[in-house]
Amino acid sequence: MAVSPLLIGMPEMRQSSLVVVANRLPIDDSVAPDGACEWRRSPGGLVGALHPLLRHTPATWVGWAGGAGSAPALPDVDGVRMHTVALSRDDLRDHYEGFSNATLWPLYHDAVEQPQHHRRWWEAYQRVNQRFAEATAEVAEQGGIVWVQDYHLQLVPGLLRALRPDLRIGFFLHVPFPPPELFMQLPRRAELLRGMLGADLVGFQRAQAAHNFAQLVTKVLELPATDRRIGIDDRVVRIGAFPVSIDTAEMAALAARPEVAARARRLRRDLGDPRQVILSVDRMDYTKGIEQRLKAYSELLASGDVKVRDTVLVQVAMPSRERVGQYQILRERIEREVGRINGEFGRVGEPAIHYLTQPFDRAELAALYRVADVMAVTPLRDGMNLVAKEYVAARVDGAGALLLSEFAGTAAELPEAYLVNPHDLEGLKQGLCAALRASPTDVGQRMRAMRAYLHQHDIRAWARSYLSALDEAGALINRLASTDGTLDGAARVPAPATPAASPATHHAGG
Ligand code: ADP
Ligand code: F6P
Repeated sequence: MAVSPLLIGMPEMRQSSLVVVANRLPIDDSVAPDGACEWRRSPGGLVGALHPLLRHTPATWVGWAGGAGSAPALPDVDGVRMHTVALSRDDLRDHYEGFSNATLWPLYHDAVEQPQHHRRWWEAYQRVNQRFAEATAEVAEQGGIVWVQDYHLQLVPGLLRALRPDLRIGFFLHVPFPPPELFMQLPRRAELLRGMLGADLVGFQRAQAAHNFAQLVTKVLELPATDRRIGIDDRVVRIGAFPVSIDTAEMAALAARPEVAARARRLRRDLGDPRQVILSVDRMDYTKGIEQRLKAYSELLASGDVKVRDTVLVQVAMPSRERVGQYQILRERIEREVGRINGEFGRVGEPAIHYLTQPFDRAELAALYRVADVMAVTPLRDGMNLVAKEYVAARVDGAGALLLSEFAGTAAELPEAYLVNPHDLEGLKQGLCAALRASPTDVGQRMRAMRAYLHQHDIRAWARSYLSALDEAGALINRLASTDGTLDGAARVPAPATPAASPATHHAGG
């Protein structure tokens, strides 16, 4: 995304009727090969989901621009105002890398790595959440709607309500919300729950998460709670499941472009025209199950079930949170294992694994998806996993097998995928073989069902169900729809009786 040159000086402070608050802005400060400052699309699913949705709406996005120190003044991105929150080096270390990504992230993902607890990190988390709440209070119009995103900002709803009781506040958690026995480990569990309850609507990816939250609120705060409503002071907070999605039509249109199809054919040739291509695309994160997948692949090579000349694995693993110790160790381990597998099973000009750590533009990703006969998405735990949905959307040819972890939120919505338990090495190997050997008829039927589902349940359907639950009167939705139709059709959707009733009927919940 080209967003330069930057505006000089701060843009005038204007207020918006819709404010999205997320730790990251949709653009990220990174360093170009020549050492110059460059702006590119931020990594991760949150931006991938929200950015296409908000394009050309009169909204403000409050967030961090990726660096340390003073907040750069940014121009609007696709018509959305950018309001930057500055983070110091200490904030970055203690709020982002510390409490967010070394305490909450592992704890919320089944503690697959050990969560760490430090009092200094909690102080930074409070301080940064306060700063986000103040920045939001400045830019939200009287009576406006504020939509707070994700685990970095769980205190913002409560802090913002204290500053601006006139606002309608929504909170959405993109990651799993853990069962009580894990959440109870948090020394400041009561404050975190109270912070989220500052919202009028707390949304989760899955019904099980809403259930966990209700149980915890009852246990820790002794408040009356069901899986749909919680009473606090004189208010009712609604809770529910709203599985996030992608811009299905946009990904399908991109993948259908002749130049993307041509690029996919060239990629296949460059890979040595193998009989089958397996692809994985992950942020380099211990939750994504990359090591378990490599182990399964290596054992299949060793047993001869998979042969290098027939089959290639393309593993895209974009480095993430690189200053956090657990991520540094993970990268070293993965790279050592890729080296070992290539050394042991590769041939000259025929590596067993094509390993890529670069960021790719959307067209290149679409071409990669089109070339993959099997897309292996096998996280140990994942709130949703949008890569799986992107793959399905990109298979405009109706082919391609999705191998999907039972522990990704996506699995509840796409039961037609080849489902596996990534903790079970034998099961993972069998699942991979089943996907590789499936008949074109079986693959085609499954893909057809998944594509039909995703065309209905796209990112706009997600926003409609969430925002109509948040704004029962439908006032915001009418405003957005009449501006340019980005949430086209939203005004026609009646507010559901309860938020839990609004999401996909197709998904299994839980
Ligand atoms: P998470 O939010 O945990 O990173 P998701 O699968 O939900 O996981 O989202 C990842 C997003 O990042 C997807 O939109 C995917 O296309 C994008 N992505 C992953 N790897 C790359 C890469 N190497 N280059 C560009 N985009 C990437
Ligand atoms: O989905 C969870 C999440 O933390 C998102 O907030 C973000 O899109 C993604 O992972 C990338 O993480 P980070 O912002 O730490 O690079």
